[in-house]
Amino acid sequence: MIRVLILEVLHYLMSVTTNPSSDVFDKVSKMIVGRTKEIQLMIRAVKKGLPIIIEGPVGTGKTEMANALSQSLELPFVRVDGDDSLTSIKLKGWYDPPLVLEKGFSRETFIPGPLTQAMEEGGIFFYNEVNRAPSETINAVLTALDERLITIPQLGEIVAKENFLTIFTYNPQDTVATNPLPKAFYDRCIWIHVSHQSLDEMIEITKLRTNYEDNLLTEISCAIVQATLNHPELEISSTVRGAIQLVELFKEGEKIKEEELLERAIAVHSRKIRCKTTTKKTEIQIIEEIISKMLANYEDERIIRKKE
Ligand SMILES: Nc1ncnc2c1ncn2[C@@H]1O[C@H](COP(=O)(O)OP(=O)(O)OP(=O)(O)O)[C@@H](O)[C@H]1O
Ligand SMILES: [Mg+2]
Repeated sequence: MIRVLILEVLHYLMSVTTNPSSDVFDKVSKMIVGRTKEIQLMIRAVKKGLPIIIEGPVGTGKTEMANALSQSLELPFVRVDGDDSLTSIKLKGWYDPPLVLEKGFSRETFIPGPLTQAMEEGGIFFYNEVNRAPSETINAVLTALDERLITIPQLGEIVAKENFLTIFTYNPQDTVATNPLPKAFYDRCIWIHVSHQSLDEMIEITKLRTNYEDNLLTEISCAIVQATLNHPELEISSTVRGAIQLVELFKEGEKIKEEELLERAIAVHSRKIRCKTTTKKTEIQIIEEIISKMLANYEDERIIRKKE
């Protein structure tokens, strides 16, 4: 019985230390708070070479997760950020005109763009905020996603090496300066959905990012953000990014004076949140209310309440 148990433990330890995906999981988990299921799903997908897209509202850790996964896989890694000027030529590559005049069209005169580079090296192509690029750019990536090849004029087909992987991020609520994604793109990807994290996880994220051990300040900053999530009068809530920024506007251990907290919280959150058209209040009034209600629940000598 004991022998069987020892063998099982040994087997488990071997699988943990030699299983590359468990190794990747551990590395990603050191950089990302929570998100266990999402990280496992991403690793499953990339192990099979499937393109993944991390989808969620602003400030939910999409870029951080994609970066953490890319770094942990220890493969060559290129990142592009979607914007209007990211054309398919920039992604795939172009011919160098003086070299073409001298040597004609050939692999030697072709300068690979990041997509071609990742395919040729067998590395990760990380495309951040995919809907910010023109739709034609996304169309150019489609064959790389499933057939793992792209066509370059005069050169022909470039076929991706085995380890070639694609990771995208996407915020569907972002409607300014963005473009619709083609249906064919939706169909080719594995979708990893993320949303805002719990208060405890936000506190952990904020501590990780600020390196502050200040429990009170971190908790208050994160609780303000949590109060904006699903707030009945808000159309858009704030994010953990706001909690991190608010903490950084204080010194560790500094007294938390209500007026200063309010002033800094307004600077951080007033343009991150947006009121519903049905409310008569302004964003600043909502922040004032949240802070006033919240501080009433704290009994701490570091907190100095505003005199009425
Ligand atoms: N789960 C998490 N673990 C560690 N850090 C996180 C996590 N979620 C968010 N963060 C931190 O929160 C901040 C915002 O995250 P990030 O930039 O990845 O969000 P995003 O979803 O890409 O936002 P946007 O839509 O604005 O690009 C960063 O400082 C990031 O490090
Ligand atoms: Mg991002």
